[in-house]
Amino acid sequence: MTRYVGSEKINEIQKLTDIVEVVGRYVNLKRGGKNHMGLCPFHSEKTPSFSVSPEKQLYKCFGCGEGGNVFTFLMKKEGLSFPEALKALAVKARVDLPAQGGKDNRPGHKSLIYDTNKFAAEFFHKHLLGDKGVATRKYLAGRGIKESSIRQFRLGYAPDAWDSLMLLAQSRNIPLSQLQGAGLIIARSGGGFYDRFRDRLMFPINDHIGRVVGFGGRSLSDSGPKYINSPETTLFNKGRCLYGLDLAKPAILSERSALIMEGYTDVIVAHQEGIRNTVGVLGTALTTEHVRLLRQWTPEVTLILDGDDAGRRSSDRSLDILLEEEIEARVVQLPEANDPCDFILKEGRDKFMALASEALDFFSFKMKMTEAKHDLSSPTGRINAALELGDTVFRIKDKLIQQEVVKSIAERMSIDEKTFRLRFSRLERRMKGDETRAGIIGGSTNYGVETELLGFLLSHNELIERFEAELGIDAIKSGGAREIILKTLDLYHENGRIGAEDLIPYFMEDEQARILATITLGDVKGDQRKGFEDCVNYIKRREGRKEIGYTKERMNKLNSNQKKEETELLREFHERQRAQLYRKRS
Ligand code: CTP
Ligand code: MN
Repeated sequence: MTRYVGSEKINEIQKLTDIVEVVGRYVNLKRGGKNHMGLCPFHSEKTPSFSVSPEKQLYKCFGCGEGGNVFTFLMKKEGLSFPEALKALAVKARVDLPAQGGKDNRPGHKSLIYDTNKFAAEFFHKHLLGDKGVATRKYLAGRGIKESSIRQFRLGYAPDAWDSLMLLAQSRNIPLSQLQGAGLIIARSGGGFYDRFRDRLMFPINDHIGRVVGFGGRSLSDSGPKYINSPETTLFNKGRCLYGLDLAKPAILSERSALIMEGYTDVIVAHQEGIRNTVGVLGTALTTEHVRLLRQWTPEVTLILDGDDAGRRSSDRSLDILLEEEIEARVVQLPEANDPCDFILKEGRDKFMALASEALDFFSFKMKMTEAKHDLSSPTGRINAALELGDTVFRIKDKLIQQEVVKSIAERMSIDEKTFRLRFSRLERRMKGDETRAGIIGGSTNYGVETELLGFLLSHNELIERFEAELGIDAIKSGGAREIILKTLDLYHENGRIGAEDLIPYFMEDEQARILATITLGDVKGDQRKGFEDCVNYIKRREGRKEIGYTKERMNKLNSNQKKEETELLREFHERQRAQLYRKRS
């Protein structure tokens, strides 16, 4: 969280701003009861599930899970940073911000990292186009990457030296702490620094509005790892950015579909050959954040998988994400040993497009992959294949579709549908039990027990002291909720009461703003006290399970001449299990 205009000022601006008016500039809102409803601006839908509360000053979409406050709304919709959103609203609210907004000079601060990265990107780019870049330019030409692409993607070359970036930065009065904050230099153990990227082809990675958030550096010699990436900074997180999205956005919008590939070169060549609605996941599996980001611009994505095994394996998890996020998803696997870069250059754009248009819907693809893995001529093989598919099927949210899919799997594997359905629903119950346990928050997805607990604390302040006595903050592990609960306790002890509105100024990060909106705008059903007890007991049990795990692990490590310790551990193990059983009954 970055906050350098005091929280009182943020509070003041927030109080003078009407979220309904701000959101109303983008969404056609209709009043319905306490809240205003409209079509969600973050995913495409036909019936309104986007709700704005004038009372709480929060918004929440029950379709896609997006949620937050007036600041995060502008940040997302306009791609603003928090200070930018603050400034925009301050002007309207006629609140004076301190001159310069009291610019934060901590080395990890966002706008400084943007500036530093941009400086470095230009430095690398100039070197690629200059004398030192000859060999790298030759390599790129050999791979079919044209100079126009080099310029469009601002590709670069990091010279073969320990300090070339550092020296130039110093001559421009850019402090070393700033370069370090951006992950461009590394501290030596004996003091001093050295450049992180040396003798590498550089790919600057932009966010969706074209600000440089990090770099990938590819080695062209045999020394060192193939790729070195920027470390995670406040801005850079591989699971959250899509390579090329800033350039692909217009095409994604106009074609209402996006292609997702795996590597830098794939995306560059696709754009170069006119396939402009293409983005890259940078070798990681597709994440929920990726999908949510894309869903703002398109209802449909096609995943293009490399023809190698790595691609095949990584796809499993990616597919399940697509299912959970309810985006229309199709999948293409390229023929043996091809990646999209090779394929497009060898076979041409038209052949590639023809292949992409034959993409299977994700479930047929999953079916095909699973079938290839098992021996379908044996009953065991067919049952295993069915069970593996069941694992994915229960993630389908639309029950009608789910029923149909279950039926077709049973037919395909020639197993008895009823028996399969039974096994399947047991699996479903088991998984659901862990995720949404008490199921008190309606319409939300994947919000854990911690979030639910926070909801109780905010709506019934008198539970706070019981929470501290019975559980305590140390039992809360989930990062996002933990910070909010900490602040809740702080503010409660300071003022004697705490509501969600009081927390807004402190939590502008995506996930946390969403958590706050979810608990306050979610329909809280059922008996609240009972729900609170459930949450507390659940967390206690979870902690208990972990302890049992430790003891088991240590037992496994024992060798035979440690008989005494073994007996001791066995006793400990049984005791813990008993305690656990007791907790379950209570
Ligand atoms: N990647 C990475 N770190 C690695 C390996 C891969 O960040 N150690 C990411 C890069 O974004 C890379 C993508 O995964 O572009 C795909 O990996 P790969 O196919 O190995 O690399 P390419 O860039 O496609 O390189 P090439 O085709 O030249 O082998
Ligand atoms: Mn590749």
